[in-house]
Amino acid sequence: MNRELTVLRRFAIVCLILFLVTLGTATMIQAGEMEIPSLKEVYEPYFEIGAAVSAGVLNRYDELLQKHFSSLTAENSMKFSEVHRNPGRYTFHAADRIVEYAQSHNMLMRGHTLIWHSQVPAHVFLDDDLERVDREVLLERMQEHIQLMMDRYGDAVYAWDVVNEAISDEPGEYLRTNSRWYEIIGEDYVAQAFRMAHEADPEAKLFYNDYSAVQPAKRDKIIRLIKELQADGVPIHGVGLQGHWSLYDPSVETIRRALEMYAELGIEIHITELDLSVYAWNTRAPMMWEPSEEILKLQAKRYGEIFALFREFSDVITNVSFWGVADDHTWLDNFPVPNRKNWPLLFDEFLEPKPAFWSVVDF
Ligand code: GLA
Repeated sequence: MNRELTVLRRFAIVCLILFLVTLGTATMIQAGEMEIPSLKEVYEPYFEIGAAVSAGVLNRYDELLQKHFSSLTAENSMKFSEVHRNPGRYTFHAADRIVEYAQSHNMLMRGHTLIWHSQVPAHVFLDDDLERVDREVLLERMQEHIQLMMDRYGDAVYAWDVVNEAISDEPGEYLRTNSRWYEIIGEDYVAQAFRMAHEADPEAKLFYNDYSAVQPAKRDKIIRLIKELQADGVPIHGVGLQGHWSLYDPSVETIRRALEMYAELGIEIHITELDLSVYAWNTRAPMMWEPSEEILKLQAKRYGEIFALFREFSDVITNVSFWGVADDHTWLDNFPVPNRKNWPLLFDEFLEPKPAFWSVVDF
């Protein structure tokens, strides 16, 4: 009798353990499988959702990229300095890798960027005697570069930032004069680049891209440039507003006014490099070790408001791309203040969705 009881007891204990293990596993599986909404699916009726990447982050971000993003931009790999660092020596492997990734996952690619005053090697502007080349030579080199990039990536890239940051920040100055392109070719280098790009790939959408593009002074100069190009019959299909913004600036009203004015130009708008710094621009405000709950809430509120505005303009905004994927890799950790950690994106350093993610998908 006693023995029977012991056996029964043991049996009951084993059953209980089995039951608890099964329950535990089921709960874990459920938690692991808990699906968060996909950004690109939520925004499918509105616009593409993109991210800037380097070839080196593709593995780490693979899951996030496939689930949430429908468009990619090469953070640096397509820039002049990356593909043609030394005369006659080309390196395409990083850009090729990103393009292959985009194509194999049915993602769009934005081409960034063909002609820019920055990240362009000195040899482009010099002859064999290290003297400055003249306008004709530089126009030829511009054409070669544009043709080369568009031939190589034209099948994958649907929209190109043909010219980046040609407008001056200086009051009273229109085009940026501290640009070798401007100095050697002259004012018409912008128009020349667009015409060459159109000739190289008549199907491609051609964009002008700039920062501070919603600030009234710069906005008005960008609009002037686009109107001049349009009046001269230069092929331009869109304007890229970089969107390196912060928790404090610019105001939603400033962004709204700029969107209204750009929309009147009859071209597409891409938000090309979106991130929301948790610091006011360039302040030496004490660095944070981690973002407080209050900061994360404020960021969520700002992102929510900004995306609500973007949705209102979804007839003209066709792509919203973030400058990065998650807070473990952002240029803002070193700019404008070196070694100052920042948390500007929708996913945190552990690639988990932040409050800002939820305010963008829940509306
Ligand atoms: C600008 C450029 C980008 C990139 C960012 C900072 O906005 O357009 O290519 O260099 O600055 O990372």
